[in-house]
Amino acid sequence: MGPKPSLRLVRQGIEIVVLALTVASFSGCSPHPNTASPAVQQQTAANATPWWKHALIYEIYPRSFQDTNGDGVGDINGIIQRLDYLQGMGVNAIWLTPIYPSPLADFGYDISNYEAIDPLYGSMADFDRLVADAKSHHIRVIMDMVLNHTSDQSPWFIESRSSRNNPKRDWYIWRNGKGPGIPPNNWQSDFGHSAWTYDATTKQWYYHKFYAAQPDLNWHNPEVQKAMFDACRFWLDRGVAGFRLDAIPELFEDPTFQDEKILPGKNAFGDPNEDQSRTENLPEVHEVMRQLRKLVDSYPGDRVLIGETYLSNIQEQLMWYGKNNDELQLPMDMQVGFINKLDVDQFRTRINEAETGLNGNMPLFVFDNHDNERSWDRYGDGKHNAAIARIVATLLLTTRATAMTYYGQEIGMVTTPPKTRAEVQDPVGKIGWPKDKGRDGERTPMQWDTSKNAGFSTAVKTWLPIPPSYKTVNIQVESGQPDSLLNWYKQLIALHKNNPAIHDGQNIMVDASDPNVLSYLRKNPGVGPSVLVAMNFTSKPHTVAYALQTQGIQGSTATALLEDDGMSKTVDLNHVMLPPFAVFIGAVQ
Ligand code: GLC
Ligand code: CA
Repeated sequence: MGPKPSLRLVRQGIEIVVLALTVASFSGCSPHPNTASPAVQQQTAANATPWWKHALIYEIYPRSFQDTNGDGVGDINGIIQRLDYLQGMGVNAIWLTPIYPSPLADFGYDISNYEAIDPLYGSMADFDRLVADAKSHHIRVIMDMVLNHTSDQSPWFIESRSSRNNPKRDWYIWRNGKGPGIPPNNWQSDFGHSAWTYDATTKQWYYHKFYAAQPDLNWHNPEVQKAMFDACRFWLDRGVAGFRLDAIPELFEDPTFQDEKILPGKNAFGDPNEDQSRTENLPEVHEVMRQLRKLVDSYPGDRVLIGETYLSNIQEQLMWYGKNNDELQLPMDMQVGFINKLDVDQFRTRINEAETGLNGNMPLFVFDNHDNERSWDRYGDGKHNAAIARIVATLLLTTRATAMTYYGQEIGMVTTPPKTRAEVQDPVGKIGWPKDKGRDGERTPMQWDTSKNAGFSTAVKTWLPIPPSYKTVNIQVESGQPDSLLNWYKQLIALHKNNPAIHDGQNIMVDASDPNVLSYLRKNPGVGPSVLVAMNFTSKPHTVAYALQTQGIQGSTATALLEDDGMSKTVDLNHVMLPPFAVFIGAVQ
């Protein structure tokens, strides 16, 4: 599974060595004067607490959300059609994976024009209508921005590859090979095998961290930075609330182009395992982040920068906020959501680090996205998946972090990988089959109801098959079941928004040596009750005795804020009995 070597790095606990290289200077990229329309300015009136601080951000994979023209692929009008649903759920912002014109070698992560909409998803007028309609639903729109690479069909790359002295040659990374048929160095693509592809026209190799159809831009070239910042301005001017920055630690490469170090073992593609310190997390990226932050800050309304940052420890995480908190507001924290097993100690440590180790910055927790097997399967034990999904939801929505969720997570959608190689759509699955079946399994169409194609599309054939689970796992059915996962999410989202302790209280681990039950106290920042959250991570019942006096809690009981299976409304703090995989969320004072 998972295409992310960076994620694999996290799993293997390998420290990324940051090379001390000089920071390139970037001229010609000063922030644009504020050109936002009056409507946008109005939308974003100054606010003491920026909106994203306690937001619920919902990732939409547009191909799979809602199809309105019957071609089997989701579209912008489909998202518009589902805004009522999103508003009802309490979503504050949607992040759309790329909808720019693209040959779709990597389903939109190969962009050929940064300032247009792919007709497959609709028109620019549709997009503008989405931003406006979303606004009237109190929902902001966040675009995916792929700065690291373009499509090989981008006019920039077509020019670049045309001759060695083309003005755009240096927009990409071209090198001589070490000899006939031998690439410049041992660097590997995240999608398997060499990261270099030979181009016969000019007899040089170009570098691509991802698929060969995704050539990396040369960020040492100021013209590249200017072109990409112009693209960002284009969307900021149209009223987007910010960007999710794709593969952002991969922006720079070590200019010495020396080989990567080889670590023991093989990677998922059967290639040698490289430490990637020459192609990820180079220090130059931080200067670009500071410039980009200046750009978004020159617009009103707290525009936000979110980073796709798979990092291995909290110190690295902290760096992405910037030494002076002048880089990303929300680098994704993948260290909590991708622990990938219900290990109390690890969750306690990682949540606590996010609470205390980020210099007061806001963590952004993510458990699901379009690149990884769904949390239902990563955390589920095959028997108690439904109860475990409630724990995952609780972890996401009762800590202090900003929450990011992925369509379908709220109903417990299951990873449904292709059955044969012929069915595979994702390039990763094509290269990695059968060991790595790629990412189609977590990108299947949204399950809305029990009708044909789960209400996603009227097409005869949808771009990915509808998972068989749709008859019972869908929005319609779960809306009508008081104890469904969907209703659990809705209740948690309401607490996340409205309960002062859960909204913004300090997060303090309690009963902190318990190996079976994860417990924390969310302290009311003002007067009023605090909230105790307790989750039994095991398949056996456990009883906990809480001593909360040192935390200023004098009462001896807790009152449940949500209906919990098999638990009474009021519990004695000296004797809290938690059935297998139970969650208790209760007010204490
Ligand atoms: C990011 C995206 C992934 C894409 C890759 C290359 O990891 O999330 O889907 O394939 O970047 O753009
Ligand atoms: Ca790069």
